Amino acid sequence: MDIFEEDLYTVTVVGDVRDPYPEFAQMRAQSPVVQEQVFENTVYKAFKYHDIDRVLRDAETFSSRLFGPVMGVVMGPSILQMDGTEHRSHRSIIGGAFRRQALADWETSFIEPTVQMLIDKFAPRGEAELVRELTFHYPIQVIAKILGVPVEDYRTFARLSIELISIAVDFDRGMKASRDLREYLASIVAARRVEPQDDLISMLVGADINGQPLPDDEIYGFLRLLLPAGAETTQRLLGTLLLALLENPEQLEAVKADRKLLSNAIEESLRWESPVQMTSRENLTDVELSGVSIPAGSHISVCIGSGNHDEEVFEDPERFDIFRDGPPHLAFGEGPHRCLGEHLARLETTVAMNALLDRLPDIRLEPGDSDPHVHGQAFRSPNCVPVAFTPA
Ligand code: HEM
Repeated sequence: MDIFEEDLYTVTVVGDVRDPYPEFAQMRAQSPVVQEQVFENTVYKAFKYHDIDRVLRDAETFSSRLFGPVMGVVMGPSILQMDGTEHRSHRSIIGGAFRRQALADWETSFIEPTVQMLIDKFAPRGEAELVRELTFHYPIQVIAKILGVPVEDYRTFARLSIELISIAVDFDRGMKASRDLREYLASIVAARRVEPQDDLISMLVGADINGQPLPDDEIYGFLRLLLPAGAETTQRLLGTLLLALLENPEQLEAVKADRKLLSNAIEESLRWESPVQMTSRENLTDVELSGVSIPAGSHISVCIGSGNHDEEVFEDPERFDIFRDGPPHLAFGEGPHRCLGEHLARLETTVAMNALLDRLPDIRLEPGDSDPHVHGQAFRSPNCVPVAFTPA
């Protein structure tokens, strides 16, 4: 079964919302922190940049432990749900794997070759749909290589990763994917115990915490987090950046003329349409956010997508503008849980953009009957990016 089977692809956006920004603007203006009932839970939603930044930075007051009963059920114990020393010691196990030298090695050994191989398949045709032919297939193969999972199997674990993070939409399917993923990974984990390789699975099976090897549950917890975290986010960034530049040809021309502008374009894309729209914390003491008192033990959901459009921080926030010069966006989170893969995500996106612009210099949007647009609620990215170019 193809991973683009419509129901699966739709499920990944978790809520088919086209333009949440007018509502976010209204919330920021009228109720920047709002209390909502989600099933039997009371959730406080925060919409303003400075509230979100504060919640994410102050990990002593705002704990990540509430992810335990949510993501922990499907992923197993992972750094996402840990606090304090436990979080620091576990995060440091793999933190070193993403250092600058490793990224440089990966760039030449498999990141660049993966992109070139994907472009080879459609370049002679003169047209392509870049979500289905490039973005969706690319970061998942890169993270597979980094972990040490056979790249040939990527369609299998792409499907399982998507089903795993879509647990809010279909609980049984999410739990089954969690079990299947563990079963799939078990033989690879066992092989690395016998013969370690230069990959992240070997790093995890060889790791120790306070002199004890990492328990199996935690090894699988890491892997179940890293597969979707590495794949399901970066493909969204690349798709959105492509669509934004193709819809703003003068900004695309500026990037073509000066590739150093790519890094501005990537940051602006992350701000303008943040691939991960929200995360959550539990406050351990009574707090006040934007004048709203929140009792200790509450679930606080921070709306990153809204914070990145806060007009008190970003001028004309709805405009995509690669020449914007302003404070940092919140798309990778903040504080101790700030994204571990941010440099990898930027590198993958830079490599793909350079390869496309080098090989298909007259690339342009060719929508035909389609309606390319960014959509999604929990995660956001384009439904399609149809393009035409001189066959190469
Ligand atoms: C554009 C791409 C990406 C975006 C927008 C993104 C976004 C985020 C955000 C918002 C968080 C913070 C969650 C929180 O504080 O609750 C996070 C954490 C994390 N990300 Fe990413 N991410 C991206 C790419 C990646 C990649 C490529 C990897 C793979 C290595 C990765 C691995 C992680 C991990 C392991 C964490 C948990 C860190 C911790 O809890 O200490 N991410 N990401």
